[in-house]
Amino acid sequence: LSWVAAFRMTGPPARVLVHVPARALEYAQALTSAVLRPAKIAAPCAIEVRVGVTAAEAQSLAPWPDIFFGAGLAPEVLLEMPRLGWIQWAWAGVDRLLDHRPFAEALAQSRFRLSRAVGLFGPPLAEYVLAYCLCLTQGIPQVLEAQRERAWRRFRPGRLAGKRLGVAGLGSTGGEIARQAARLGLEVWGCRRSGASPGPTPEGIARVFGPTQLDVFVSGLDFLVLALPLTPATRGLFSAGLLARMKPASVLINVGRGALVDERALVEALRAGRPGWAVLDVFEREPLPPESKLWSLPNVIITPHLAGLSRPDDIGDLFLHNLAAYRSGGPLAGEVRADLGY
Ligand SMILES: NC(=O)c1ccc[n+]([C@@H]2O[C@H](COP(=O)([O-])OP(=O)(O)OC[C@H]3O[C@@H](n4cnc5c(N)ncnc54)[C@H](OP(=O)(O)O)[C@@H]3O)[C@@H](O)[C@H]2O)c1
Repeated sequence: LSWVAAFRMTGPPARVLVHVPARALEYAQALTSAVLRPAKIAAPCAIEVRVGVTAAEAQSLAPWPDIFFGAGLAPEVLLEMPRLGWIQWAWAGVDRLLDHRPFAEALAQSRFRLSRAVGLFGPPLAEYVLAYCLCLTQGIPQVLEAQRERAWRRFRPGRLAGKRLGVAGLGSTGGEIARQAARLGLEVWGCRRSGASPGPTPEGIARVFGPTQLDVFVSGLDFLVLALPLTPATRGLFSAGLLARMKPASVLINVGRGALVDERALVEALRAGRPGWAVLDVFEREPLPPESKLWSLPNVIITPHLAGLSRPDDIGDLFLHNLAAYRSGGPLAGEVRADLGY
């Protein structure tokens, strides 16, 4: 499948190959509509779109594209594209790409530029996080259990107000989670690689910590939310030692990547009641294997990586913004730095 979309034809179109598992056509249509509509952001050039519905189809088009838009394609295949100057990843995490050493080296040598989806996942992730904070504070699991048993079991629900929530990772998703949590009356702490130093404290955050202060950060929280990218520096960061610093009744919510946490240590920590609960959307291995011990723990809520699902239409403006930036050599929104791994 291939077509040209031009709001105004000025010069040859940029060649864009689109592949997103099971949704390539929807995304290709969303990019096309974004280019055609005389909206907030004007398309800087026409685009010629080709759609690789399957990965094999995308691979067969490897000699053709200037730009790859999409996700779920193996880094080896992207490296086979000789004309490629820019990859706009349709998902937020790029750890699978950068784990492939030749790909990471090619990025470090500026063979192409790489940007990831930013500004789309914060609102759904914030709703997910706050939904489970409220769920556990209100004792919804106990309520449902009592109802199944037809038992009139009164208890005193907790309140979010006055509790402290910490967000590890204050980027495009963590920043939004922090803002929304502060609006609900939680005291919000944050942790980021750059620590407290650069610029003003992000909106709604009472205290900002750096990576070397993680133990102090973690031990002061009622809710710990992981919204970090998976990089060499963050893999396994939440180790047995750090989990042991969490308060007994605290809640760990992981919406970043499974491998941020040592999963074996987490199972032991949950058995010991520290943290008291875990709400997990991401896992070391996905789908979470049936034999995982996490499934049978009574204090775990498991969701199948759905906290921050994006819709094709959401990404049109980001694509246009970055297309213009790419054409002019300016900074891309969500541009990935090879040296930092995110
Ligand atoms: N569950 C889902 O459905 C879902 C959806 C979207 C995203 N995600 C995951 O969430 C991750 C984060 O996304 P994002 O868009 O918010 O990323 P981002 O904008 O790049 O923000 C990353 C944040 O992590 C901080 N950070 C990086 N390395 C660190 C370290 N070693 N110690 C402490 N802080 C560190 C950064 O610090 P600085 O501010 O100092 O740079 C930044 O604040 C993605 O990589 C993806 O894996 C999951």
